[in-house]
Amino acid sequence: MTDLWNITETSFEPKRLRHFETALTQGNGYLGTRATFDEYYPGEQRTTFVHGVFDDVPVVFTHLVNFPDWTALDITLAGERFSLAEGTPLDYHRELNLRNGLLTRSLRWESPHGLITKLEFSRFTSLADQHLMCQRVFITPENYSGKIQVVSRLDAGTDTMRYQQWRWLDQGVENGLIWLKLRTLATNIEAAMAQKVLFKGGIEAEIATPDIVKMPSISATCQADVGQTLWFEKFTSLYTSRDCDNPKSEALTGLAHLENDPWDAAFTANAQAWEKEWDRCDVVIEGDDEAQLALRFSIYHLLIAAPRHDERVNIGAKTLSGYGYHGHSFWDTEIFMLPLFTFTRPEIARNLLSYRYHNLPGAHEKAWEGGFQGAQFPWESAGDGREVTPTWVPNHADRKSLIRIWTGDLEIHISSDIAFAIIQYWRLSQDDTFMAERGAEVILDSAKFWASRLEWDPQTEQYHLSDVIGPDEYHEHVDDNAYTNYLVRWHMHTAVAVAEWLKTYNAQAASDLFTRLSIDEQTFANWATMADQIFCPQENGGGLIEQFAGYFERTDVLASDFDPRSESVQSILGIEGANAVQVLKQPDVLMLMYLLPELFTPETIQANYDYYTPRTDLTFGSSLGPSIQAILATRVGNQEDAYENFMRAARADIEDVRGNARDGIHGASAGGLWQAAVFGFGGLHIEDDRWYIQPHLPAHLKRLQFKFMWRGEEQVVDIRAEEE
Ligand code: BGC
Repeated sequence: MTDLWNITETSFEPKRLRHFETALTQGNGYLGTRATFDEYYPGEQRTTFVHGVFDDVPVVFTHLVNFPDWTALDITLAGERFSLAEGTPLDYHRELNLRNGLLTRSLRWESPHGLITKLEFSRFTSLADQHLMCQRVFITPENYSGKIQVVSRLDAGTDTMRYQQWRWLDQGVENGLIWLKLRTLATNIEAAMAQKVLFKGGIEAEIATPDIVKMPSISATCQADVGQTLWFEKFTSLYTSRDCDNPKSEALTGLAHLENDPWDAAFTANAQAWEKEWDRCDVVIEGDDEAQLALRFSIYHLLIAAPRHDERVNIGAKTLSGYGYHGHSFWDTEIFMLPLFTFTRPEIARNLLSYRYHNLPGAHEKAWEGGFQGAQFPWESAGDGREVTPTWVPNHADRKSLIRIWTGDLEIHISSDIAFAIIQYWRLSQDDTFMAERGAEVILDSAKFWASRLEWDPQTEQYHLSDVIGPDEYHEHVDDNAYTNYLVRWHMHTAVAVAEWLKTYNAQAASDLFTRLSIDEQTFANWATMADQIFCPQENGGGLIEQFAGYFERTDVLASDFDPRSESVQSILGIEGANAVQVLKQPDVLMLMYLLPELFTPETIQANYDYYTPRTDLTFGSSLGPSIQAILATRVGNQEDAYENFMRAARADIEDVRGNARDGIHGASAGGLWQAAVFGFGGLHIEDDRWYIQPHLPAHLKRLQFKFMWRGEEQVVDIRAEEE
């Protein structure tokens, strides 16, 4: 039987180096380390990112900082340096165990001179102690005896992107530990790392600690006889001034107290922490091994990116697993990734939503800069919650020109996406304290933004939102995007209801908040009236909702008209060309129908599904599309489309269908996949004070089991095929 917990690589493939680095990324919600090898290879992206540690860079404003590499090992076997670029790998096997986060690699290596060595590497980033990373290596010479040399280091000299983000401060050796201290150049975050290597199994190693600048090292040499196994364990700690006052002292203390058998103790604690996570978050699929493994892979990647002890960080679109989008966060968090946490790990959802609350100043700044009031959340957000969407980026197709990025100016729906996620969290958790202290403020402050942003048209006697971008980014500068307008109407009505609730829940808190935001009863009355007067495109004769004003007048082509192809419709037609046709990058009207289904009849949903589906670039458009499309497909009873799109999302990173997995995990696709399983196939619905399921299992699935928290109590849903 296939193992449904392991992602494996059975041959060394230099061409897929970066894809696997992403796919096998390890992390613990504090840091993420790409699965580069212990030894160096050209083209790799040796990267450790830590949540919240950003520094300034050109063009994209701010970027996650790449930490010194803690994994590096140079191994020299009887005078020959171990590298798969030379010699022959035999019995190669690399595997990430999703159940406990352990990455292992075993192989026999035949050197250019014919020496054969068995090597086994393991490593994990502890989920039990987020500052601890552990490695273990076994080396067995099979057909020779000789000198084995191992050099381990903390390497601050390897930033693959060549950004200069660190100032080196100091380094040293203390009681056999090496350490390194740095500070980010612009954001002044101090970081310290320490490392300790223990030689086990009675090895007599000659140990040295060469002090190379930016690269404190530990080197050991020992003699190995044929068949003898050398074994060493390596522990690294990492702290920053975001977590403590003295990172260096914490990093050293973190390792000083390691027990006699530190690997076993640390691994057991890590495995127990993982077991608890999976106990709450696993989704069991029987009857489809590929779907099962892909779903666990997606949940794993969200769990390793989820901040458990920090409410001032968010998850970037590419998690902590790659350079894509520079670590910036988008609506991907609230609409795609958050539901997994809201439903299974509400404590994490609360942290992520609190990030938005703490970053209200950045949202005020954005509103103010646009000439508006209240809080307008940035389309791309990073360390301090200011807008960090780049304005111009290089055009890779034509190096002499630049491309204007409009999303930071025009993709304004994110403020309501955040409000939506807060309400969803509140509904599930009934966390009134959070709502009273933080959630209400975010919702009301951003409603205030909408009240100033809406445009009154005396002729139609309606409010409009012109010059925006909806979820479908192939169409820029559009007026009255249905998704945005409906969500804003929902948001303003919700804000009025939340204000009402707060008055009864805690009159003093309500009065303090209203004073702080300069809003009162009259404001709420105005918001309610304005909300009713927002133009929300209605069904035409055929039941269709127009995605934005004038959409139906664009040239009508289908996504399939461009097949066969291996790129998006936008790359084929160019930005202007894609703007001129009806093909969408990702569900837009259908996205609206997913989030606010109560506003539409089944017939309307069906009509819009039938119209927009063939016009959506589901194969090469946004990776956010397929999971949502899968859910809508279950709602209209189209099992085939549902499964096809579920698998599209499932394969996004495991199979690298868009060819860009090297840049990092598509976090939204991963979160969407969980939603497609639970809300789509599982048919979980939340309504007022109850939940119910309307399963739509694909015909070949035998079972779907998931858990979620409903008002503090765990619920288990177990759907068997015959029950359908
Ligand atoms: C998608 C956006 C998404 C962003 C980050 C874009 O390609 O169209 O919806 O927020 O990527 O993942």
